Amino acid sequence: PKRITTHTLLEMKQKGEKISMLTAYDYSMARIFDSAGIDVLLVGDSASNVMAGHETTLPITLDQMIYHASSVVRAVKRCLVVVDLPFGSYQGNSSEALRSAIRIMKESGGHAIKVEGGSEIKESVLRVLSAGVPVMGHLGLTPQSIYKFGTYTVRAKEEAEAQKLIEDAKMLEECGCFALVLEKIPSKLAKRVAEEINIPVIGIGAGPHVDGQVLVSHDLLGITNEFKPRFLRKYADLHSIMIEAVANYITDVKENTFPNEKECY
Ligand code: KIV
Ligand code: NA
Repeated sequence: PKRITTHTLLEMKQKGEKISMLTAYDYSMARIFDSAGIDVLLVGDSASNVMAGHETTLPITLDQMIYHASSVVRAVKRCLVVVDLPFGSYQGNSSEALRSAIRIMKESGGHAIKVEGGSEIKESVLRVLSAGVPVMGHLGLTPQSIYKFGTYTVRAKEEAEAQKLIEDAKMLEECGCFALVLEKIPSKLAKRVAEEINIPVIGIGAGPHVDGQVLVSHDLLGITNEFKPRFLRKYADLHSIMIEAVANYITDVKENTFPNEKECY
């Protein structure tokens, strides 16, 4: 299949074709998502929650992100692989950001990186872009700043915060970012941003008037069971399916009906 590039995504926006994006953290799942035809896989730092069981995205390290990303890259034939720069690997200064981005590109084979924030990280964004590494922005609810916000509630409901978000979105476009994620903001604001900038806007909890959607794969598949925000649509209940499968296996082992004759050598 023809590979999706950052340029393909731009063309999709121009044609009005929506972009589908999902998170992936490991080889087996990434293979399934790529085969299903997903456009973009995000090796999100949500791996910190979903894979490692941390309460926030803050603890995951650059080495751990590289491990997840390299597993995903080995699985894909078609989709674009974007990798989150984790907390602490780019905010300090732009040379640190560049070093982190280069490590991701060299050691995982990912195709692009994603960073959270606007004007605060402008120098880092420019420095990474100047090295030829495509950058995806991320505004609105930015989980790496959770201790500054205090909650995971909807962002930019007030005019001042909405205004800053619009300015940041324009700034990221001007810097040369190839796309932008908007997380958990009013649908109307997301629509305005998607109209006012020319790069693709991918929403999560940002309504339908954007250029594409992203979800955490374990949420969409119903593997995670406790997380139920309004914006989440569950496309499967793998939690129940997996519980039942494992329970049946346990029963068969206990009753000694597994393995049977055909399952022996
Ligand atoms: O880490 C992640 O899963 C993300 C998406 C929710 C956009 O950044
Ligand atoms: Na993330």
